[in-house]
Amino acid sequence: FVKIKELYREQEKFLGQKITVGGWVRSVRGSKAFGFIVLNDGTFFEPLQIVYHDTLDNFGEVSKLNVGAAVIITGTLVATPEAKQPFEIQADTVEIEGASAPDYPLQKKRHTFEYLRTIAHLRPRTNTFQAVFRIRSLTAYAIHKFFQERGFVYVHTPLITGSDAEGAGEMFRVTTLDMENLPRTEEGRVDFHEDFFGKETNLTVSGQLNGEAYAQAFRDIYTFGPTFRAENSNTTRHAAEFWMIEPEMAFADLEENMNVAEAMLKYVIGYVLEEALEEMNFFNTFVDKGLLDRLNHVRNSEFVRITYTEAVELLEKNNQNFEYPVSWGSDLQTEHERYLTEEIFKKPVFVTNYPKEIKSFYMKQNPDGKTVAAVDCLVPGIGEIIGGSQREDDYEKLLARMDQLGLNRADYEFYLDLRKYGSTRHSGFGLGFERCIMYLTGMSNIRDVIPFPRTVNNCEL
Ligand code: 4AD
Ligand code: MG
Repeated sequence: FVKIKELYREQEKFLGQKITVGGWVRSVRGSKAFGFIVLNDGTFFEPLQIVYHDTLDNFGEVSKLNVGAAVIITGTLVATPEAKQPFEIQADTVEIEGASAPDYPLQKKRHTFEYLRTIAHLRPRTNTFQAVFRIRSLTAYAIHKFFQERGFVYVHTPLITGSDAEGAGEMFRVTTLDMENLPRTEEGRVDFHEDFFGKETNLTVSGQLNGEAYAQAFRDIYTFGPTFRAENSNTTRHAAEFWMIEPEMAFADLEENMNVAEAMLKYVIGYVLEEALEEMNFFNTFVDKGLLDRLNHVRNSEFVRITYTEAVELLEKNNQNFEYPVSWGSDLQTEHERYLTEEIFKKPVFVTNYPKEIKSFYMKQNPDGKTVAAVDCLVPGIGEIIGGSQREDDYEKLLARMDQLGLNRADYEFYLDLRKYGSTRHSGFGLGFERCIMYLTGMSNIRDVIPFPRTVNNCEL
């Protein structure tokens, strides 16, 4: 089979030639003597038009094809200079590979994203989701390319873990226990020592702690895999299962961490703008009119870098307009993140040195005793897209902080070891992959950038 992408990219090679294409019918318009099929084969954003005549043996059946049918077409590719599309196929044969039932849900009309979510198995056949999921694939590749070109080692961190990497307690439990018949301790608590692993195990919230172990061996590493959070956040930016990219760099401080994050985001923006022209133009036309201008601007300008304290000073001036007024010590909400990026700076902003109370136990404690060397990258339209930090590399300080927060030392023995044997300053960050795809496409709901979303109250398909 020839792919539709090849036809568009190497038109001259195929014009006048007899070719065979296979794909799915987007629409059929038939009259008594001839008809048109619009076909998409999944290889290219633009469809292909086919003209057929009553000379076909199965002319009657072809004219009655339903949208969604799979067909194999052989014919000649001819140029159509007057038409919207550059060429079409004059069909010799139309073979029906798989008919489509008349109740096919994707008829040729616009469907809402809400409705399409209920048919997540069919939505990749629509223009929007063809574009989203091709961008998702290309972005994953671009991220690997970015890190591999810089010598980072790709590390596969475990999905089933015994420790809580964020210390936030938002984990899905993994158990082999018989839920109908849970073993109990004398005090009546579930006895996880009866479990397959002999201890509580969970789905990972982050590969960072394991990543740090590998950074202390390979220097620069990254992870790229699924993570899970049992937080009850029913928003357009939270999923219970999402993918995260987590680079970790030995000998890097917070400044270098930001440099890598900024270079990475610019690299992926450049990559999709160059490799997915049709898709990006589609988003710019139908989803988010300012998208291309915005991304081109971001790609060529420096991100803002301010401290949390500076950010709070800026935000306090607008407190009367916030649902949650800000003061030093408060966690930044989405409304604040968006105000900073959309109203004040109009581009991505790194906010550094947050109060230690609102950040994770592993972040490096600053000399002021109040803040830690954290960094969040906030972007217009979304808010937080990256969270990272320089890590506490001092054994005693880390241990003291863990004790203060009541973390169970035994769960973090390996992590503490890293501070015992050749500890270095080191930093890393986590990029939420879905939020990155939202940023690149202008799509406004996380449910529409992951193939089969798992969110609060939704685990269908
Ligand atoms: O800020 P977070 O929680 O940071 C970490 O997990 C660190 N261990 C990262 C590191 O330093 N290696 O999460 C990182 C990013 C967030 O900025 C956000 O983009 C995304 O992961 N994220 C989510 N995306 C979708 N749904 C959720 N529930 C998310 N929680 C975090
Ligand atoms: Mg965060």
